[in-house]
Amino acid sequence: MEVNVEGDLMEKLVTLCKRRGFIFQSSEIYGGYNGFWDYGPYGVMLKRAVEQTWWKYMIEERDNVVGLDSTIICHPKVWKASGHVDRFGDIMCDCKDCKTRHRVDQMEDPTTCSNCGSKNLTEPREFNLMMKTHVGPVSDDDHIAYLRAESCQPIFIDFHQIRIATRKQLPFGIAQIGKAFRNEITPRMFTFRSREFTQMEMEFFVSDEESMEWYNFWKAERRRFYKDVLQFPDEMLQFHDHDKLAHYAKAAVDIEFKFPFGWGELEGIHHRGTWDMSRHQEFSCENQEYLDQKTNKKYLPTVVETSVGCDRMILAILCNAYAEDKAPTNKEGMEDDVRIVLRFPAIIAPVQVAVMPLSKKLNDKAEELARKLSRFYRTECDVTGNIGKRYRRQDEIGTPYCVTYDFESENDNAVTVRDRDTMEQERVPIADLKQYFDKKLYNW
Ligand code: GAP
Repeated sequence: MEVNVEGDLMEKLVTLCKRRGFIFQSSEIYGGYNGFWDYGPYGVMLKRAVEQTWWKYMIEERDNVVGLDSTIICHPKVWKASGHVDRFGDIMCDCKDCKTRHRVDQMEDPTTCSNCGSKNLTEPREFNLMMKTHVGPVSDDDHIAYLRAESCQPIFIDFHQIRIATRKQLPFGIAQIGKAFRNEITPRMFTFRSREFTQMEMEFFVSDEESMEWYNFWKAERRRFYKDVLQFPDEMLQFHDHDKLAHYAKAAVDIEFKFPFGWGELEGIHHRGTWDMSRHQEFSCENQEYLDQKTNKKYLPTVVETSVGCDRMILAILCNAYAEDKAPTNKEGMEDDVRIVLRFPAIIAPVQVAVMPLSKKLNDKAEELARKLSRFYRTECDVTGNIGKRYRRQDEIGTPYCVTYDFESENDNAVTVRDRDTMEQERVPIADLKQYFDKKLYNW
């Protein structure tokens, strides 16, 4: 029986993520480092699975999108051309009394510190979010380089290389998954706003005439991803058109998720016009036009972008998956307690199958079976504690299927498979497990 999640869901998630080793603060033994997060063993399995699922959906299942893995540090002119060096920042002011730093556009009253009520504030000033480093042995201004603030810029500058190498013609897209860095003033809400995060971006290059058609296409495709692949209910998502558009853009929309702290941007779908290509053309002095073989006309490609933070997507997945329910008394040898369960869709669950020997004497057989299954599914062999406790642990990790190897398995060559959500159990011949899980996990 599902029960209402009592108390602060964010607090519960942060605690669960730390306890089970999903996500925890970076550099904890030094007191932590604000805005930086580490993914532990289950966290990294979840993250890889989310990245793979996005990659498969956006690239492998299409013939008009290709991949890229570019460097994090590019020529500094890239960020000058993109506008990040001159304009990527927030207007901030500091409270001279309590030292709190505020984003002026988020202050209810820009003359008063919301932390201590003081009116003793500094003049508003621009604070650039780009992270800097130096490349080469000399640490002076001539050797400044930037950690990329978005993963898409290298896609724009590599466009023609990739087009020629793949012999692709417009319309087609280039996608990449990779780290981005922003010196956020107020990192907050767990991983929602971090200083180092992973982006999953796809830039689709089209002619201006076809651009709105493709913008609507990608909007629908991204909705389908959240609905069908991640199984987010409709009421957890909303599409919010930007009120103000950049002068070069024809449209932009945020896909927002209902986080426990309110609606928050999950993904942006942006019509970027020819802005990026024209800026790189201007700054590199290299022609960035495309020769359309159908019309024999040359033009700068227009870009339609889908951009999502992987960490933010994982936070939304965790919020959507978290549930507490009451297990029926003694069904699994446990008290009638509240169990915590992460109802991940099986395709992204960090562990898809957990194999459990009923007794220590059966460990070898269970481990052998787990090894076989691990070739096809994310599998672990869970040998510690009684079976009830192991089920609870796997529920908290979000494992959709537990396989119990018992004494009878020796005779009937079968195991008991327990479903995380229904807690129903069924006996399945070991020889049929592959077929059984292919159907359950991948609908084959
Ligand atoms: N290339 C376009 C671009 O970067 P953005 O709206 O600045 O657009 C896109 O970022 C997505 O990246 C956001 O929707 C969000 O999911 C993620 N993101 C941005 N800043 C983030 C941060 N500080 N921490 C975590 N994720 C972030």
